[in-house]
Amino acid sequence: MSLTRRKLLLNIVSGFGVAGLIALLFPFLKGIFPTLKKEEAKEIDVSAMKDGEAKTVRWKGRNVLIVKRHPDFISKHSSHLKSLIDPFSRNSSQPEFAKGHRRSDRDNYLVVYSYCTLLSCELKRLQIETEKGDVFSGFFCPCDGSRYDTSGRVIAGSAAKYNLSIPNYEHVSESRIRLTGV
Ligand code: FES
Repeated sequence: MSLTRRKLLLNIVSGFGVAGLIALLFPFLKGIFPTLKKEEAKEIDVSAMKDGEAKTVRWKGRNVLIVKRHPDFISKHSSHLKSLIDPFSRNSSQPEFAKGHRRSDRDNYLVVYSYCTLLSCELKRLQIETEKGDVFSGFFCPCDGSRYDTSGRVIAGSAAKYNLSIPNYEHVSESRIRLTGV
């Protein structure tokens, strides 16, 4: 075999060796560098939701609650704010757009992880009776009764101290929400 052919063969073999090594290490590298993970965005159709209705969506191993709320039921009056531990969500986990009273990208949809921020029990929805029927009035934790308002803000006196966590998401259209990140 000529020297050039031998060199060529060696190059090909070592090329396969490097490629094989990368393929072998890829799952480990993905774990070490999460940014290497494929973006797992998920789109949800909310077109059929009625006011007060909630939808639970499984996403990246956790449950996300989407609640269609009437904008009138977003609590902003000052007497109510005094009863909140973190009314402006300064100490909570959420995207930048969710720091205001509504804690959402659009008034009429609240998107939150459905776990109490104390020990991660699954939340229940609170309903109150009105002349127009039952309306969504927040959440409570069945574990020891921590309560959250209609924007997922924890109410003083609760065992939990942080507002509900909010994933990153966007409204793709009037009828679709896309979950995009933690
Ligand atoms: S997990 Fe909510 S109060 Fe226990």
